[in-house]
Amino acid sequence: LKRITTHILQEMKKRKEKISMLTAYDFSMAGIVDAAGIDMILVGDSASNVMAGHETTLPITLDQMIYHATSVVRAVERALVVVDIPFGSYQGNSSEALRSAIRIMKESGAHAVKVEGGEEIKESVIRILSAGVPVMGHLGLTPQSIYKFGTYTVRAKAKDEAKKLLADAKVLEECGCFALVLEKIPASLAKEVASAVSIPVIGIGAGPDVDGQVLVLHDMLGITQEFQPRFLRQYADIRNTMLKAVGDYIKDVKSEDFPNQEESY
Ligand code: KIV
Ligand code: NA
Repeated sequence: LKRITTHILQEMKKRKEKISMLTAYDFSMAGIVDAAGIDMILVGDSASNVMAGHETTLPITLDQMIYHATSVVRAVERALVVVDIPFGSYQGNSSEALRSAIRIMKESGAHAVKVEGGEEIKESVIRILSAGVPVMGHLGLTPQSIYKFGTYTVRAKAKDEAKKLLADAKVLEECGCFALVLEKIPASLAKEVASAVSIPVIGIGAGPDVDGQVLVLHDMLGITQEFQPRFLRQYADIRNTMLKAVGDYIKDVKSEDFPNQEESY
């Protein structure tokens, strides 16, 4: 079983083989996603929403991200594991950024980190890369700055915003980032970025003309069902499967159907 490396991902872009990526936050789920053959697993700070029930990604801590990452890494045999550096652990302070990245790599055994932003965080990105830690960028809708924008609507529809995004993508490429996530931007702009940079561009709500796709696992499995953006394709209905299973269990306990004789010692 050959492990996916950043080098393999670059090769995939060159030969136009699409890259698959999903999030995971725990041992059991990561094991299933890896066994299915996913190329990359993101231990996203979406754990703040999906795992902890917060409204935004801001509250999750570096220690909590490391706990999730450690659990994921234990299960994964093939995929490249990328971990989000959480809000407040890298912005505006490149030595703190380096320290956070090193803690994630050392304590969890993950293979790369992801940060949100372009030019503004250039110094931090360079500092992390100088330690030999692969960095993935993230542009477009960047949930850690939700309070700056105020909404989760499509980003970079205006010309000046699109120009800045393209420039930021080139900055991240020049710094040495191994890949880039583009979230919720027009498909035409995502296509332009993907052809302007040589590193793999992974889209979420960024249309088909990029080098790969990422979704939040719990959204695509239909575990979370209140979040229904246009870009989300739901591949299963796990919430209802679980509701039925738990409901059946409750019924069997109440009716004394469970456990039966064969299920007893
Ligand atoms: O945290 C996350 O799940 C992410 C993806 C949506 C790209 O950053
Ligand atoms: Na994230």
